[in-house]
Amino acid sequence: MVSTRALSLLLVALLFSVQVVQNKAGWGVTYTTAKICASNGSTVEMKCTYTYPAGYTVTEEFWCFENNENLKGNLDYKDRIQYNCTEKSCTMKMADLKWTDSREYRFRFITDKTEGKYTGVPGITLSITALQVEVTKIRVNESCTKAELKCKSSCTGDVSYVWLKNGKEVTEENPYITSLQFNDSICCALKGQGKYCSASLYAPKLPSVSVSPSAEIVEGSSVTLTCSSDANPAANYTWYKEGGQTPLSITKQLSFPSIQSSDSGVYNCTAQNELGIRKSKHLLINVKYAPKLPSVSVSPSAEIVEGSSVTLTCSSDANPAANYTWYKEGLFLAWAPDGVHHFTSISPENRGNYSCKSENQYGQINSSPVFINVQYPPKLPSVSVSPSAEIVEGRSVTLTCSSDANPAANYTWYKEDEPLPVGPEGVHHFTSISSEDRGNYFCKSENQYGQINSSPVFINVQYAPKLPSVSVSPSAEIVEGSSVTLTCSSDANPAANYTWYKEDEDSAKASGHNFIIDKFSPAHSGAYQCKVQNKLGFHSLTFLLAVVRLSGNDTEMWKVIAGTAIAILLVVVLIWILFSIWKKEIPRKLPEPTKSPGTSAQKQPVEQNCNLHYASIQFSKKQTDPLYSNIKSKKHKEEEENKIQYAAVKVASVSVAPSNRNQETEEDPATLYSSINKALQKYMNQN
Ligand SMILES: *[C@@H]1O[C@H](CO)[C@@H](O)[C@H](O)[C@H]1NC(C)=O
Ligand SMILES: *[C@@H]1O[C@H](CO)[C@@H](O)[C@H](O)[C@H]1NC(C)=O
Ligand SMILES: *[C@@H]1O[C@H](CO)[C@@H](O)[C@H](O)[C@H]1NC(C)=O
Ligand SMILES: *[C@@H]1O[C@H](CO)[C@@H](O)[C@H](O)[C@H]1NC(C)=O
Ligand SMILES: *[C@@H]1O[C@H](CO)[C@@H](O)[C@H](O)[C@H]1NC(C)=O
Ligand SMILES: *[C@@H]1O[C@H](CO)[C@@H](O)[C@H](O)[C@H]1NC(C)=O
Ligand SMILES: *[C@@H]1O[C@H](CO)[C@@H](O)[C@H](O)[C@H]1NC(C)=O
Ligand SMILES: *[C@@H]1O[C@H](CO)[C@@H](O)[C@H](O)[C@H]1NC(C)=O
Ligand SMILES: *[C@@H]1O[C@H](CO)[C@@H](O)[C@H](O)[C@H]1NC(C)=O
Ligand SMILES: *[C@@H]1O[C@H](CO)[C@@H](O)[C@H](O)[C@H]1NC(C)=O
Repeated sequence: MVSTRALSLLLVALLFSVQVVQNKAGWGVTYTTAKICASNGSTVEMKCTYTYPAGYTVTEEFWCFENNENLKGNLDYKDRIQYNCTEKSCTMKMADLKWTDSREYRFRFITDKTEGKYTGVPGITLSITALQVEVTKIRVNESCTKAELKCKSSCTGDVSYVWLKNGKEVTEENPYITSLQFNDSICCALKGQGKYCSASLYAPKLPSVSVSPSAEIVEGSSVTLTCSSDANPAANYTWYKEGGQTPLSITKQLSFPSIQSSDSGVYNCTAQNELGIRKSKHLLINVKYAPKLPSVSVSPSAEIVEGSSVTLTCSSDANPAANYTWYKEGLFLAWAPDGVHHFTSISPENRGNYSCKSENQYGQINSSPVFINVQYPPKLPSVSVSPSAEIVEGRSVTLTCSSDANPAANYTWYKEDEPLPVGPEGVHHFTSISSEDRGNYFCKSENQYGQINSSPVFINVQYAPKLPSVSVSPSAEIVEGSSVTLTCSSDANPAANYTWYKEDEDSAKASGHNFIIDKFSPAHSGAYQCKVQNKLGFHSLTFLLAVVRLSGNDTEMWKVIAGTAIAILLVVVLIWILFSIWKKEIPRKLPEPTKSPGTSAQKQPVEQNCNLHYASIQFSKKQTDPLYSNIKSKKHKEEEENKIQYAAVKVASVSVAPSNRNQETEEDPATLYSSINKALQKYMNQN
């Protein structure tokens, strides 16, 4: 029995380097091992056998500290230990190993006899160790990583390790040379404790990126980007911005104390440790900000012609996108969410300065104005005549044409379709209008887009009666007692009235165009006067009516010869109306009255120095003139010449210079008449 026991003890000693504790004869505790190295958190078993002499009965058996304190009585241990004790053998399982569990543990048993107590000394020394993987060699390339790894612990003596790749035991060799994929994780454990592996080594996992604050990023605020990746050993980090190859930052966090709109963009980061490098997904940084100065464009950009389609576009850099408002001359025109304002058919009223406002919740800004110049053909011209009142011959008259057009029109004035000389800016000017200028006028307005004529305007030039003429009817021989008609005609506007006077008779003989002598007799011979008058003035024509008896005939036949070639013109223009108008309107332009000595102090408003004209009473050289032809048939050329000479003399002697407008200027030409009578006598004597 003893020898068997001794043999077994020897075997135990050989196999397990058993510690035999036997102080007293027959008493002893044999532990299966003296030292145990275990990982934190793992579970170990401590085993022993014990002996005692016969005659004792074991009453108590337990594991204890060096001071024999029972572990069961220790709060820190009692729940973690478990005994499996049979006769003369006792195993203690200790779970959830902690660093503080590193110490010596002993087995003790107590018997029914007082001296029968025994503790196996020395006990088992427990060491709690940490395991660590050391990378002794590494080569990282894009496709794989090759590494030489070493497992390390604080255990002394021969320790066996096991390697776990992605949780599976792969080998016990140490160091361990292996290829690692980007997602492999590797750890080592004490052999038999694979569950309690070292911290795993692995390349960085996909880095996650985050922005703080996570809400809207407003220009000027402080923003931090963070890159983080699970990696062992811990990764280092590098931040990049799209388009830039150089790192922005080699820190985990990228900070913008005051972010700008230019900081907007796509960012990424990389996480790198010894086992590899990993790139994050993109991070879009969208700084929001107030609109930048808008730009305005006009389409088409060339000349804008009335009726064309025009588009104004306002655009402005803003985040979030701005909305737009259009203004014309600073006044609200339209909302334009997309910045576009469209004219389907632009009109001249749309001409002007336009600007737009760009706005989002962070601010607003106005564009500089853009000028829209709408071009169009001339509109119907308006014409004006100055003075607008009655137009009197001799006065200055201005015709003005004006028409709305862009670009400005040029103008041409026409009289009855005949163009007039071009004046400046649609003006046609008559320095002194004459009766020939009477007629219909219009103007044409023209630019490169078209032309248009004004409606016609009638210029009615008024004038004092022109030189009258007198004719006699019948022109043939007249039987005494028959009727003779004298006709006086004068061009005048407005039409003149006619008054007939006879020499030495105060009252008018007749009025109207014609003066009819009912029962003609030679006694009707004498000086007559036809006065033609309108409101602008009058002409008086004085002529002689001579009765010539036709010879060689018993019948009393007479020939009436009017005028005997003398016409006395008294032209006095009395223009009361014009006078008053002129006096009112252009007093400074009144001609200075000629102040000759002895003239009346009273001013003569219109002192028309009327030259006397030869009377043209049917002595004009018209063949159709019955009187003239009659005269010509009976008279010699000489007589005619005399007559003309005479008339010339007479005319020269007559001067009409009315110095007093109140006094009828038809001065009694008594001397003249007497001269004429003499001439008449001479003339008749010659016959
Ligand atoms: C030891 O293991 C325990 C439980 O497994 C764990 O909580 C503790 O962090 C570990 N301590 C060390 C230093 O590894
Ligand atoms: C106790 O130990 C014996 C032998 O050593 C073993 O057969 C038995 O299964 C163990 N019991 C427990 C609960 O561990
Ligand atoms: C990466 O390493 C492996 C193993 O050493 C090698 O076969 C491969 O050619 C290398 N690839 C590159 C791109 O260097
Ligand atoms: C590693 O990635 C490969 C594919 O890329 C996959 O097949 C494999 O299961 C992954 N291994 C682990 C441990 O996730
Ligand atoms: C991501 O980072 C790499 C550098 O690792 C860089 O070349 C690439 O342009 C970045 N991509 C983007 C979208 O920022
Ligand atoms: C990051 O870590 C790797 C591996 O340890 C090293 O090669 C690299 O130089 C480090 N990069 C920086 C920027 O520190
Ligand atoms: C447009 O603006 C310009 C410059 O301010 C100004 O001279 C011009 O008169 C404006 N045009 C109109 C039609 O208001
Ligand atoms: C334009 O944007 C501003 C700021 O966001 C808002 O107050 C306004 O109502 C918007 N106007 C329109 C017409 O959408
Ligand atoms: C008036 O304008 C038209 C069109 O621009 C041009 O053809 C014409 O020569 C101009 N006339 C004058 C007198 O300037
Ligand atoms: C002739 O006309 C003038 C001016 O209109 C007027 O003053 C005059 O009385 C008229 N004479 C006759 C006879 O109608």
